Amino acid sequence: MKRRNFLKKASVTGLGLVAVSSTLFSFKEKSEKKSMISPSKPIKPLVIATWDTPLAVETAAKVLEKGGSALDAVEQGCRIEEANENGQTVGKGGLPDRDGNVTLDACIMDEKGNYGAVLAVKNIKHVTSVARKVMEETPHVMLVGQGAEDFAVAKGFERENLLTEASKKAWEKWKETSKYKPIINIENHDTIGMLAIDNNGNISGACTTSGLAYKMAGRVGDSPIIGGGLFVDNEIGGAAATGLGEEVLKTVGSFLIVELMRQGKSPQEACEEAISRIVKKPNSDFRNFQVGYIAVNKQGEFGAYSIHEWFSYNLYKEGVNKNIKSDFFNKG
Ligand code: GLY
Repeated sequence: MKRRNFLKKASVTGLGLVAVSSTLFSFKEKSEKKSMISPSKPIKPLVIATWDTPLAVETAAKVLEKGGSALDAVEQGCRIEEANENGQTVGKGGLPDRDGNVTLDACIMDEKGNYGAVLAVKNIKHVTSVARKVMEETPHVMLVGQGAEDFAVAKGFERENLLTEASKKAWEKWKETSKYKPIINIENHDTIGMLAIDNNGNISGACTTSGLAYKMAGRVGDSPIIGGGLFVDNEIGGAAATGLGEEVLKTVGSFLIVELMRQGKSPQEACEEAISRIVKKPNSDFRNFQVGYIAVNKQGEFGAYSIHEWFSYNLYKEGVNKNIKSDFFNKG
C-alpha cells in the first residue's frame, strides 16, 4: 500500500485500524529492539528516513555503497521524494497553502556542523539541493521566499509549477469549507527526514517538506530549522522529525535528541524522551496531532518513536533496505 493511502486510513483519535501489513517486510518489534542494542563495531554505511521511502533510501544507500559521502547520499535520497508527484507532502505535487501556492521548506547538515536551509520557496522542486547550495556557496545559512527562489534560479535550478492537478483538486475541495482550525492529523504530515552514515563513519542529514496542508501563507514549520526538523553532530549522531512542526519547534526536538544521546541515552531512549516532552506538557492536545522522530548515533544504533501509531521509517543497513513500523506513545 502506498504511503499516502496507508496514512489516509489512520484516524489519530480512533486508531481503530484493521491491521495493515508493512509495505515491504513484516518485522516484530522485539527483534528490531534487539538490533538497536550496541553493536560491537559501528554499523556503516547506514541510511534511515522517515515514512515508507524505499526508493529514496535505496538511492542514498547506493551513493554510500559506491564510497560516496553521507552528504551526497541524503541529498540524492531526498531528491527522489521531491520529484515524486504522487507524494502530496514533499516537493512537486505537495498540497498548497490556503491561497493555492505550494511552498517548500528544506535543510541539510553535514559532518562538519555546516547547515543550509531554504524556507517558503515557490516554483523550485529540489529544495534540498538549493539548501546545500546555500550552505556551500553563500555566507548565510537560510534564504527565504523570493530571495531563495531567485538564488536557486541563479544557480541553474529550473522554475516549474509545483501544483499538480491532484493537489489542485484537493485544495479546491478543501476550499468548499475552508475551515481553519487546521485539520491536524498524520495524513498531511509526511515530511522526509533522512540521516546517513558513510563508510568513513561521517554523519549527515536532510529534511524536505511542503509543510502543513492549507497552512497560512508564510507559515514555516520545523523542517528547515536547525535543531527542529533536523540536527546532526558528527561526534554524537543525528535526529530528524516529522509531524506537526509547531510542536517539534516548541521542544527543539532534533537538537534535544542529539543532546540526550550525548548524555548517554540510546537513540531509542532519546526519541522516546523527546516525544514525552511534547505529550506531557500541561494541556497538551497530543491526541489531535502526530509527531515522529528518527535518530542514529555514531555506532550505527538507531531509534524511532511517535505519538500515534502508523509512523514508520525505512532503514538501510548491512545491505538490507526495509520499512519498519515505529513504536509509539498513545496505546490508548
Ligand atoms: N513537519 C513539517 C511541518 O510541520 O511543516
